[in-house]
Amino acid sequence: MASSLSRKTHRRVSEKASDLLLFLTLLTCLLRCTQCVKASNMILILTDDLDVELGGMTPLKKTKALIGDAGATFSRAYTATPLCCPSRSSILSGKYPHNHMVHNNSFSGNCSSKAWQAGPEMQAFPVYLSKKYYQTFYGGKYLNQYGMNETGGVGHVPPGWDQWHVLVGNSQYYNYTLSVNGKAEVHKDDYEKDYLTDLILNRSLTFLDSRSPQHPFFVMLCPPAPHSPWTAAPAYQNSFADVKAPRDGSFNKPGNDKHWLLRQPVNPMPNSSIDYLDNAFRKRWQTLLSVDDMVEKLVKKLEDIKELDNTYIFFTSDNGYHTGQFSLPIDKRQLYEFDIRVPLLVRGPGIKPNQTLQDPVMNIDLPMTILDIAGVNISILDMDGQSFLPQMAPSLRNGTSRPYFLVEYTGEHFTKDPDCPKLGPGVAYCFPDCVCEDAFNNTYACVRTFKDNNLQYCEFADDEAFVEVYNMTTDPHQLENIVKKVDPALLQVMNQRLIKLQSCKGDSCRNL
Ligand SMILES: *[C@@H]1O[C@H](CO)[C@@H](O)[C@H](O)[C@H]1NC(C)=O
Ligand SMILES: *[C@@H]1O[C@H](CO)[C@@H](O)[C@H](O)[C@H]1NC(C)=O
Ligand SMILES: *[C@@H]1O[C@H](CO)[C@@H](O)[C@H](O)[C@H]1NC(C)=O
Ligand SMILES: *[C@@H]1O[C@H](CO)[C@@H](O)[C@H](O)[C@H]1NC(C)=O
Ligand SMILES: *[C@@H]1O[C@H](CO)[C@@H](O)[C@H](O)[C@H]1NC(C)=O
Ligand SMILES: *[C@@H]1O[C@H](CO)[C@@H](O)[C@H](O)[C@H]1NC(C)=O
Ligand SMILES: *[C@@H]1O[C@H](CO)[C@@H](O)[C@H](O)[C@H]1NC(C)=O
Ligand SMILES: *[C@@H]1O[C@H](CO)[C@@H](O)[C@H](O)[C@H]1NC(C)=O
Ligand SMILES: *[C@@H]1O[C@H](CO)[C@@H](O)[C@H](O)[C@H]1NC(C)=O
Ligand SMILES: *[C@@H]1O[C@H](CO)[C@@H](O)[C@H](O)[C@H]1NC(C)=O
Ligand SMILES: *[C@@H]1O[C@H](CO)[C@@H](O)[C@H](O)[C@H]1NC(C)=O
Repeated sequence: MASSLSRKTHRRVSEKASDLLLFLTLLTCLLRCTQCVKASNMILILTDDLDVELGGMTPLKKTKALIGDAGATFSRAYTATPLCCPSRSSILSGKYPHNHMVHNNSFSGNCSSKAWQAGPEMQAFPVYLSKKYYQTFYGGKYLNQYGMNETGGVGHVPPGWDQWHVLVGNSQYYNYTLSVNGKAEVHKDDYEKDYLTDLILNRSLTFLDSRSPQHPFFVMLCPPAPHSPWTAAPAYQNSFADVKAPRDGSFNKPGNDKHWLLRQPVNPMPNSSIDYLDNAFRKRWQTLLSVDDMVEKLVKKLEDIKELDNTYIFFTSDNGYHTGQFSLPIDKRQLYEFDIRVPLLVRGPGIKPNQTLQDPVMNIDLPMTILDIAGVNISILDMDGQSFLPQMAPSLRNGTSRPYFLVEYTGEHFTKDPDCPKLGPGVAYCFPDCVCEDAFNNTYACVRTFKDNNLQYCEFADDEAFVEVYNMTTDPHQLENIVKKVDPALLQVMNQRLIKLQSCKGDSCRNL
């Protein structure tokens, strides 16, 4: 009896065990399948030189409605450095310039160089997305020196990208070469066939149609707009006929209490400079209308393929821009808000609509945020940024934002500036009217702080060891450098923070 009972019990137990095993197998399978269904898609739209301070988002009405109103608008989004190639290198690698070592737009400054390819590019965020079985697509401008023969030409396709439709060199709208998955494709200037903003959108739509529904996708779209040469689509060439650059804030103001480069422009600006910058301002806006169409068509496509609710869309820029601020005609590369602050709009699962978020976030945070969403264990990544998923979607993640951060810039220079040959070496981009936008000693590092003090503190590596300090609460346009008025103890605190940040790496850039 005892043995039969035990046999019965045994049988019942083993039946139960196999039921449990079956159940567990089903559960794991189910979980895995739910996970693969649930892993969110992502789209990152990275514009070129789009400001937020001068109203750069104004022409982008559909973008604001479809991304910002449907999600979060960050009012304090910053670039770690206001120049295309170093900033884009930060967006890809999640590192400050002192860690990715891309210091300017030239090969010699590591822009798309062999050192970049062998180092930071191997650990850029697409590499990790690919490990998570994301299907990835890149279209448009990559790094300013990408595709040049010196560093592998169009045959070099960085790791992690499945579909690669990328511009050789700097932003162009027509007459360019693309690397299409490693093969050169030459384009002319037929709007229907070649307009770059439209072309990358079209290719991304094809990619979405041909994707495998089992795995999530990541699409990165980098239109040339609103970078020079500001070539609008035919339909938009007469738009904004009456628009001029805004005249408020620091427009056409002298920069007498600022670093030497800000003391050289003629003030007030000559009419020729004003006409030039107004024209540039209008044309920039015209090119953005095609970007606005891009966003609309992408969102429509996501709706059609029933992926809109499971897709994060990020919209941002590599750096800001100025048109006449402190009498500098047009460029970026300065430490002021107009050049370092960028637009950042995000919609997606867990993000409540119509939010404006004040938490300071940076371009180096984008890869951490993207990989956090993708389910990568981000604590193992060698990156300086931090995920801002907790700020956008507190129901999904907890976390705090940083109290302050670093902005660092290395000035570019020419031996002789073709725009103003009568000037000596050391300066660059002296156009129009021989006003220089950059110089080798326009090399600076700043701490921007929000908690305790809403302050910007900057030190220059120039002959004067120049320091600029702004009270961003009372003086949002940075009209008055308060370095001589402020408590020396505060200057010392800021100097110490700056020194630490300039050599920070990973955790030491975040745990402040
Ligand atoms: C967001 O705000 C705008 C303007 O107030 C409103 O029209 C829109 O319906 C809101 N959208 C959502 C999703 O709440
Ligand atoms: C370029 O990057 C490499 C490491 O990736 C570094 O050793 C080198 O100093 C950098 N060059 C410049 C000019 O910063
Ligand atoms: C690279 O080399 C190819 C073949 O020699 C040449 O046709 C092409 O113009 C070069 N491209 C650039 C950007 O120099
Ligand atoms: C494209 O190149 C052709 C041939 O050099 C030139 O005639 C045309 O003006 C260029 N188009 C644009 C938009 O620059
Ligand atoms: C993009 O697709 C649209 C719609 O099919 C087409 O009209 C347009 O010519 C295409 N543009 C480019 C540059 O491929
Ligand atoms: C510059 O433009 C202003 C405003 O349009 C005009 O009043 C002024 O006469 C112009 N100056 C010169 C030197 O043309
Ligand atoms: C992430 O990686 C860290 C460091 O290796 C480890 O301690 C932690 O347990 C990991 N977290 C998860 C959720 O796997
Ligand atoms: C965030 O923290 C709160 C309080 O500690 C906790 O109740 C909540 O579950 C956490 N949320 C997430 C997404 O971890
Ligand atoms: C870029 O940086 C390198 C290395 O410091 C320097 O040699 C080169 O002149 C810089 N390029 C420009 C345009 O300033
Ligand atoms: C910066 O460099 C320029 C060009 O060499 C020079 O004229 C200027 O005096 C320098 N200014 C400072 C403050 O170092
Ligand atoms: C900035 O201005 C605010 C408001 O007047 C003031 O409370 C704060 O002390 C100022 N900060 C500094 C560093 O002067």
